[in-house]
Amino acid sequence: MQTEHTTRQVLVCQYVNCCANGSAKVLAAFMSDPVPGVAVTGSECQGQCNMGTTVRVLPDETWYCRVKPEDVPEIVEYHLKQGKPVERLLHPRFHSRFYG
Ligand code: FES
Repeated sequence: MQTEHTTRQVLVCQYVNCCANGSAKVLAAFMSDPVPGVAVTGSECQGQCNMGTTVRVLPDETWYCRVKPEDVPEIVEYHLKQGKPVERLLHPRFHSRFYG
């Protein structure tokens, strides 16, 4: 939902490899649980094709990998509503500080 008050953007990859990993359902799950101020859109390939579904949150520059539809409520509740990234889903390539 794009509004003039949008403060965050969620990009859900809809390219080939992520689609094969169910990214359309991940996008649908985000769309079915809209958060005020957060715009959710499908995106082109994000260059992390072997770790899909790739979800990127801007302007935080938070990257999630291997996201399944059942993971979406946790991202919505903790990250988008409370501002706390879901560590277990963070992409280790971008967030290595969480991996020891
Ligand atoms: S196909 Fe999704 S990151 Fe490349």
